[in-house]
Amino acid sequence: MTLTITQKKLTLYIREFLSRMNKGKKLYEGKAKIIYEGPEKGTGIQHFKDDATAFNNLKKSTVEGKGVLNNRISEHILNNLNQIGVKTHLIKRLNMREQLIKLCNIFPVEFIVRNIATGSLTKRLGIADGTVLSKPLIEFSYKNDDLGDPVISREHILEFGWVKDPITLDLIIERCLRINDFMQGMFRGVGIKLVDFKLEFGRSNIDNELMLADEISPDTCRLWDVSSEKKLDKDRFRKDLGNIVQAYQEVARRLGIIHEESNISSVKFGKPKAVNIKKK
Ligand SMILES: Nc1ncnc2c1ncn2[C@@H]1O[C@H](COP(=O)(O)OP(=O)(O)OP(=O)(O)O)[C@@H](O)[C@H]1O
Ligand SMILES: [Mg+2]
Repeated sequence: MTLTITQKKLTLYIREFLSRMNKGKKLYEGKAKIIYEGPEKGTGIQHFKDDATAFNNLKKSTVEGKGVLNNRISEHILNNLNQIGVKTHLIKRLNMREQLIKLCNIFPVEFIVRNIATGSLTKRLGIADGTVLSKPLIEFSYKNDDLGDPVISREHILEFGWVKDPITLDLIIERCLRINDFMQGMFRGVGIKLVDFKLEFGRSNIDNELMLADEISPDTCRLWDVSSEKKLDKDRFRKDLGNIVQAYQEVARRLGIIHEESNISSVKFGKPKAVNIKKK
């Protein structure tokens, strides 16, 4: 029997083998990501899938390439946040789909920061879509899929101990605003309006430090092109607008994470010619 295995396939198998070697047992599989035990105590591996879901899992599909892009975009943003002193769970990106992270006890609260009214806010309160808010608006929702992640107040969070003390809650809110300021500037600089986004926080299993966890990507943000207002985020999936991966790619390209192929062209050198030195 002759083994016919192409070099490309062999590379893929080796990569897959190496990436499995690092991973411990699966700790959690969510809609968009899988969390594995990491190589050292208190670390984890966050794997980005291509699965897309919306409306609390009612709409499901696979968007080829989404996981790779979200991994890169989230790495870029969290690295920048780490650099400006906002603690995050990201240690480093490992490969196309995986990041080494600090495992956390995640507060069961989603922190939603809004700069422009859209989505559920406009439906719940009858506010016109696209209304620019006078200052960032922070909403909280209880992370519970069975209940449909209901909107809650600060008092619910403290009463039910989802975040144990008011000082920590204030610290998280302060960080949400800092992250918003940074991200608004970063996206504006590349012609994108940061409409709203969702954050998750937790305390590190290693030293109990408060940190930003999960991901920041076009799956968790609403991003509109400044001039055309074209949506460059998961709303393309929610609203069946098509070209989802192209939109995520556009975000990555504008942030300088991936480069347009058209920019990469081989430089052609002609055959070297002998230099004729004129004799005097
Ligand atoms: N550093 C971390 N340590 C532990 N868990 C984390 C960390 N970062 C993110 N998570 C959790 O890992 C899961 C990521 O999976 P995914 O985003 O697919 O979940 P999901 O389907 O959105 O479900 P849900 O967030 O409601 O659990 C989330 O539950 C998230 O809270
Ligand atoms: Mg999630």
